[in-house]
Amino acid sequence: MTSKLVLNAVGGDLEETITLVGEAEISAGAGEVVVNVEAAPINGADPLFAMGWFGVYPEVPADMGAEGVGRVVEVGPGVDPALVGRRVVMLPTFRFGTWATRTVVPVSNVVPVPEEADPLQLAMLAVNPATAYVLLHEYVDLQPGDWVGLNLANSAVAHYLIPLARRAGVRTLAVVRREEVIDEVRRLGADVVLVDGDDLAERMATTLDGARLRVLYEGTGDPAQVARLVTAVEDGGTVVAFSSVTGQAPVIPLPDLIYRGISLRSVYIVGWLRSASPKQLEQMYGELAGLITEGVIGAEVAATYPLEEHVDALRHAQQTERNGKVLFVPAQAA
Ligand SMILES: NC(=O)c1ccc[n+]([C@@H]2O[C@H](COP(=O)([O-])OP(=O)(O)OC[C@H]3O[C@@H](n4cnc5c(N)ncnc54)[C@H](OP(=O)(O)O)[C@@H]3O)[C@@H](O)[C@H]2O)c1
Repeated sequence: MTSKLVLNAVGGDLEETITLVGEAEISAGAGEVVVNVEAAPINGADPLFAMGWFGVYPEVPADMGAEGVGRVVEVGPGVDPALVGRRVVMLPTFRFGTWATRTVVPVSNVVPVPEEADPLQLAMLAVNPATAYVLLHEYVDLQPGDWVGLNLANSAVAHYLIPLARRAGVRTLAVVRREEVIDEVRRLGADVVLVDGDDLAERMATTLDGARLRVLYEGTGDPAQVARLVTAVEDGGTVVAFSSVTGQAPVIPLPDLIYRGISLRSVYIVGWLRSASPKQLEQMYGELAGLITEGVIGAEVAATYPLEEHVDALRHAQQTERNGKVLFVPAQAA
């Protein structure tokens, strides 16, 4: 018997719309594999998906969970049998679920990963490390010594972006919203950590001492914070929106947009992965999985829960000022 978390209605209270169901044995069709799930995180996108506010609209009943790690236990027709027994990460499509004991996945959406790495860290490989990687590589051609800025600097995305930037010799100006997390962000390798506030523009100018940000990675959507941060971006520079924790759309102030030529772009990792070539995926995930195995990058884990405790897990994941990610793991491992 397979257990899985299913969304029964779009919108409303997740504690009521998401339920645990049992399913008779599942099997792999052509081009598919069956994966025994070892761990799967709750990301910000999951509640958005359940509310119908995400880039993929749920067809209810919809299996929940976008990414995770597990072991292939069966392959369908047309799939290399050598995959059986391999540990794989599952890439987010929002068309199959990972909050399950077992799941059926198209083989194009699994990537083999090293055995030695911590499964909890591997479970979080597909989304946030890839987002950080794409933010650093796909928008501005960054050189050692360049400065980049980011907010949400204690988020999981930042836990990958800051060390990846440091490895490339790129300097980071990291903005958080509370003092308690400053030391943690410094330990990640950020060159400067500042707490947001009305005088942020002045403090950034003093700290940068004439230097400017080549690119700003923006996750609040808050037009007032964006206006403060944009003052540090170079003329002709770029703002890349990766999230909107306020639910607002980021706005570039008119003088910065017109007179200084600042452009606003965005990233959507599900769309990027959909159009990436197998070679690009292999290259990116190979590099990221290696860094996770070496312990160079990784996110904090706040807690793990079995599927049966999904109400507590979802509540925990939606708390702000939480230290790390919440993941589902098999009952015996929670
Ligand atoms: N565009 C994409 O393809 C893509 C891919 C991956 C992630 N994302 C998005 O990126 C964001 C970060 O994801 P994650 O998994 O790294 O999240 P996470 O680890 O849960 O971190 C959430 C971050 O948001 C901050 N935050 C929450 N509410 C806030 C508010 N009202 N004002 C300012 N900051 C606030 C938190 O600060 P505190 O600790 O102070 O609460 C924390 O830094 C999420 O919104 C996620 O959906 C987007």
